[in-house]
Amino acid sequence: MNTVNREQTTMQALTPQDLVAVIGAGAMGSGIVQVSLNAGHRVALYDANPGALARGIASIDTTYRRLLEKGKIDAATHADRMGRLLRADLLADLAGARLVIEAIVENLDIKAGVLAEVEALLGEDAIIATNTSSLSVTAIGARLRRPQQVAGLHFFNPAPLLPLVEIVSGKATSPQVADTLFATALAWRKVPVRCASTPGFIVNRVARPFYGEALRLLADRAANAATLDAILRDAGGFRMGAFELMDLIGHDVNYAVTSTVYQAMSQDPRYKPSLLQKELVDAGWLGRKSGQGFYAHGADAVRPAPVIAVPGPRPVSVVVEGDLGVAAPLIELARAAGLEVRQVPAQGAGALLWIDNVAIALTDGRSALQRQSDGEQVSVVFDLAEDYAACSLIAIAASDLAPDGALATAAGFFQALGKQVAMIDDVPGLVVMRTVAMLANEAADVVQQGVASAADTDLAMVNGVNYPRGPLAWADRIGAARVQRVLANLAAAYGEDRYRSAPLLLRHALNGRPFHAAQPEAAQ
Ligand code: NAI
Repeated sequence: MNTVNREQTTMQALTPQDLVAVIGAGAMGSGIVQVSLNAGHRVALYDANPGALARGIASIDTTYRRLLEKGKIDAATHADRMGRLLRADLLADLAGARLVIEAIVENLDIKAGVLAEVEALLGEDAIIATNTSSLSVTAIGARLRRPQQVAGLHFFNPAPLLPLVEIVSGKATSPQVADTLFATALAWRKVPVRCASTPGFIVNRVARPFYGEALRLLADRAANAATLDAILRDAGGFRMGAFELMDLIGHDVNYAVTSTVYQAMSQDPRYKPSLLQKELVDAGWLGRKSGQGFYAHGADAVRPAPVIAVPGPRPVSVVVEGDLGVAAPLIELARAAGLEVRQVPAQGAGALLWIDNVAIALTDGRSALQRQSDGEQVSVVFDLAEDYAACSLIAIAASDLAPDGALATAAGFFQALGKQVAMIDDVPGLVVMRTVAMLANEAADVVQQGVASAADTDLAMVNGVNYPRGPLAWADRIGAARVQRVLANLAAAYGEDRYRSAPLLLRHALNGRPFHAAQPEAAQ
């Protein structure tokens, strides 16, 4: 056995001499076969449909041929890998496997039936892994004779390229089995994280608000899809906006995952599916694969441009009142842009930027109108940015009662700092702040409930869905107290349980301790 270390733990990985069996030669099965072949294993591939098996093997060969053409592998490596791929025409051909990974249709009865058959062919210590994204690993294990040998090994699509693997323990999974899978995934050059078998595991659960809040903002007509996507990308630092990502994933798939998690979580309003997305599914507007989703995807389709503000007046000076916290880099930017900057102590509750007689503030989850009606001087609010110094866009919104020209004045300030500005409706929490607060809230519950550690939760979101920061590391950066205040204000504005604070987030808000105590930025 190979010995692999992470976090000072020593665990035993499978060795290349161990036979790996993969059941299901579709998109995921073919990818997982490549990962195991690349790690040096002999791999037996089975599919109930002989045509699918042949197509799967052909697609693996094609992938390697492309790598050969690009000079990424040589002919001997190609031949060696394909030579270790064994075509299994019968389930019985999988006997002798040390690890079986199932990647067939997402149906509990069918998966459990095939795995029970294969279990009878295997040795006592063989590990049975399922690549399910939404079914209970506990329930699959319960249908087998040796549930302690059953675990989830959840790869992301495309498996050869995406590093994350969730190692999912069901109620009966033995710790040794989880350890062996963890060490094996590390030996396969993947990034494994551990989690308990709960709806959505880590990634498919924590990511729900990324889609959910964007859909709600669009439903409430805060801005159009292209503008919201631009804000998430160019201010939030996300690789893709929520709408373009949902179009890529497919609305049937994305809506089904949300609905599954919503039902599995006893219809908790935090996961409530969007009527707007259901409309798309009902219309057959599934995204890229059907040629139309939120965007048109035909050959001659033109992507609508985000709505960007026209140039506002360039300010000469800015007065910074109080501590801007996470938005403090704006001060240096203003100086670098040649503005005269004067810093004064806070007069009221929060920090303000004064440009002439217009007070602007980072959103705290209240609309600008709400802040005015609460007696504050703020008339324009601005959104969170992942990195104020580097981002190219900032979203702002004005209160209905803001003085004439306030929005243009605020836009002129951010434009002077080299940013584009998106003016959106005065919705509570704006876009990036609200999304990040909800992601961190969900991640905090995952940790609180023992589904995964804070480090693994952040690692999963960065490696599984390419988030620019782990949600908990992000909360540490903003400050848990500020994140919790945003949620409390959203809860007050909407009067919905959806925005309730996770107990662990509230705890960190009160005790002032970061989620990542030792190395605050470690999980980014
Ligand atoms: P797919 O539809 O591309 O492939 C499934 C394959 O399983 C087909 O070739 C089919 O012939 C075969 N199959 C169906 N029933 C079978 C049976 N009883 N015995 C043997 N073979 C059978 O599906 P895909 O996308 O590869 O998904 C497979 C599994 O991986 C599902 O559990 C899915 O939830 C999970 N998953 C999918 C991801 C994705 O993005 N597609 C990501 C992560 C997990």
